[in-house]
Amino acid sequence: MTEHEDLVNFTGDLYRARDSGDPAAVAKALERLDALLHPHTHAEERGLFTVLRRSREFHEHVDGLCAEHAGLGAMADEIRRGDFEVIDEFIAALRDHMDKEDNGLFPAAAIELEGPDWEEVVALTESDPSRGATATSSPSAVASARSAAIPGRSVPEPT
Ligand SMILES: [Fe+2]
Repeated sequence: MTEHEDLVNFTGDLYRARDSGDPAAVAKALERLDALLHPHTHAEERGLFTVLRRSREFHEHVDGLCAEHAGLGAMADEIRRGDFEVIDEFIAALRDHMDKEDNGLFPAAAIELEGPDWEEVVALTESDPSRGATATSSPSAVASARSAAIPGRSVPEPT
């Protein structure tokens, strides 16, 4: 998932900013990271998580991931208020969270969901105003959403 890769890269910027000892650099790196993280988590909750939550077997796992989203937001707020001691915990929590999604939920979703489900995931995600208005629910957008669920692998179109 490209956004996850970008987030990992931004955590490197946050580490370097913290190590520079420059609070303004930390604030700038955090805002850059959060400008991607916040819409990303919101879109996950609005799209994929909403559809997956309908399945009883995913309910608890999705709730846990949503709680982690809230925790990440709270830690970002602490850093924003000047508590740079939280940065290591924040980055570790973010990496752990993305690993759970990349290697747990997303592959499981690719197995669980079918074509119409993915169309709904895309439609719900694209109806999120924080994602901008450039996306469409075209077949290629649906294929992209399906492929994004399994990083590094393409998912065949339903027949
Ligand atoms: Fe997430």
